[in-house]
Amino acid sequence: MSKQHIQIFDTTLRDGEQVPGCKLNTEQKVIIAKQLDHLGVDVIEAGFPVSSPGDFKSVEAIAKIVTNATVCGLTRAVENDIKVAAEALKYAKKPRIHTGIGTSDSHIKFKFKSNRDDIIKRAFNAVSYAKSFVEDVEFYAEDAGRTDNEYLARVCEAAIKAGATVLNIPDTTGYCLPSEYGAKIKYLMDNVKGIENAILSCHCHNDLGLATANSIEGVINGARQIECTINGIGERAGNTALEEVVMVLKQHADLDLDTNIDTTKLFGLSQLVSDSMGIYTQPNKAIVGANAFAHSSGIHQDGVIKNRETYEIIDPKDVGVTESAIVLTARSGRAALAYRAKNVGYELTKLQLDDVYSNFLTFADRKKEVNDNDIHQIIETSNVYRQIVSA
Ligand code: KIV
Ligand code: ZN
Repeated sequence: MSKQHIQIFDTTLRDGEQVPGCKLNTEQKVIIAKQLDHLGVDVIEAGFPVSSPGDFKSVEAIAKIVTNATVCGLTRAVENDIKVAAEALKYAKKPRIHTGIGTSDSHIKFKFKSNRDDIIKRAFNAVSYAKSFVEDVEFYAEDAGRTDNEYLARVCEAAIKAGATVLNIPDTTGYCLPSEYGAKIKYLMDNVKGIENAILSCHCHNDLGLATANSIEGVINGARQIECTINGIGERAGNTALEEVVMVLKQHADLDLDTNIDTTKLFGLSQLVSDSMGIYTQPNKAIVGANAFAHSSGIHQDGVIKNRETYEIIDPKDVGVTESAIVLTARSGRAALAYRAKNVGYELTKLQLDDVYSNFLTFADRKKEVNDNDIHQIIETSNVYRQIVSA
């Protein structure tokens, strides 16, 4: 059976850029957009054109240079937003307008001071208006995670009637449990009339650390697009991390779900985004963190030196990391020390290793991490140094 294609909708330049203090200029955005296109994402959400002249300019510049991906602009369910987005996207080979409105009772009551029927009308009108500019219109039901499923299905039906090609079901506040989000997608797949004319999209936030799990549950239950950002950056605790969902689908081939992403470019893009935005990536970040392929305890190091797969489920080269790292600390064992010593030119016998190892432990208790220069120093000050160099 051939695998089902999952579209990767990257929103690093829109939702991702909503991180306080991480604004990018047009030049930086164009550089990132080009790399996202090379990475193989299906859709690039380039910005929110009506929000500022700078964002308009960035969306327009990205629309001009992207060759493969669809270029998308965000709007509210407001005519002027939609008109401005269409204008910014006019040079795109494949333009998409992403329009929508809040659908949870909390949004309807407090944000819009409105009622459910009025919101459905506004959703219908926004999609219809967007359709007068572009064929490809995505509708988002903001706070769908906390929206009653029956009502959400009615909103989705209205958006499809108006011509929406994609229905985005955002867990805007990162509230849902994976089982709950999966059940919501399944409910919509089973109950929305006309669902065969559109695809469902997962857009999950990470407030409870569940964004990746929720997105995966979404596609298992029938959604065909995931919205995500490089390094999971975004509002508050961030969005679903692109590198995480892509690698989950790659490593779990049994799910029969596939993406177009060239995974060997993931680490490079992670660094580009982190450097451009000035946001440091946590060392233990899955897939792209500095420690994602680093081993520091003796038991793990011994296993990895014998066979990488004992403690690694991903080949680092698959995500663009040159090799796994054997980090020397006071928790490291003889196997790791012998391995690193060999890398810097010393082939130690068992007896020599015993002597050098006790020197190493004294040194490592004083220093958090032992580097290549330290290894030279440890060996040069050991009792067996003369034996080692004369061998
Ligand atoms: O989180 C959200 O609901 C959004 C929408 C604007 C798509 O980012
Ligand atoms: Zn969002």
